[in-house]
Amino acid sequence: MSDWREVAPADTVDEDEGIGVEVDGKNIGIFLYEGKFYGCENVCPHGAAFLSDGFQEGCEIECPLHQGRFDFITGEPKGPPVDTPIRTYPVKEEGGKLFVDIGAE
Ligand code: FES
Repeated sequence: MSDWREVAPADTVDEDEGIGVEVDGKNIGIFLYEGKFYGCENVCPHGAAFLSDGFQEGCEIECPLHQGRFDFITGEPKGPPVDTPIRTYPVKEEGGKLFVDIGAE
């Protein structure tokens, strides 16, 4: 079931600079790629780094701690040392605001 939550103004996210938001105890990274917003688990499963502090290249985000890479659209790991997928979250923009669906996967 969907559970959309307002998280941030849309203009706080740039193509090469995501943000981290806290929703219901979950830290979610929000990224912009080719005009569309995407959300994913923001805490790297390899350590305690925030992916939103990492380096974005296309639809991939590189962890700032050990440079593991994830595709933030699919959640798939794309480069060592990370080898487990991360959860992704639907994101939509309405009236200049961003909403994340934290409902069931
Ligand atoms: Fe992210 Fe190690 S904490 S790759």
